[in-house]
Amino acid sequence: MRRILLIHGPNLHLLGVREKEIYGDMTLKELNGIIKKYAFKNKIKVKIYQSNCEGEIIDIITKNMKDTDFIIINPAAYTHYSYAIRDAIKAVNLPTVEVHLSDITKRESFRKKSVIKDVCVKRFYGEGVKSYIKALDYCLKWKK
Ligand code: DQA
Repeated sequence: MRRILLIHGPNLHLLGVREKEIYGDMTLKELNGIIKKYAFKNKIKVKIYQSNCEGEIIDIITKNMKDTDFIIINPAAYTHYSYAIRDAIKAVNLPTVEVHLSDITKRESFRKKSVIKDVCVKRFYGEGVKSYIKALDYCLKWKK
């Protein structure tokens, strides 16, 4: 059974309220419900966290590293500038998938840059909840 650590970064607790024209109506609880259902159906063990704090995200990554096969992370705004999260991903040396709900390549120019991209094995973006489902599928099929 694949053990996945899934992390949602800052402001994603506001899904369903925040910029609905970009992120849609779905709340984080609903999104997590879909992820959990899909994981259960596919015999994936998934642990889900959300944090608004950079250091806390690093602690979540490092505290869970021994019980994790893959990380799926939507670092939200930290994507664009957190070298600390990048270093944590590199340090634990676990295959990591970067995920975004929106298409960060087609928004403001500061969102085009991801400082974690090259420490991740794959990224999915621009497809809402489907970005997460594709990431789960990717982990299921992943071979070293
Ligand atoms: C996001 C995109 C980021 O640029 C933004 O800061 C977010 C959400 C996304 O899922 O589309 O908070 O990661």
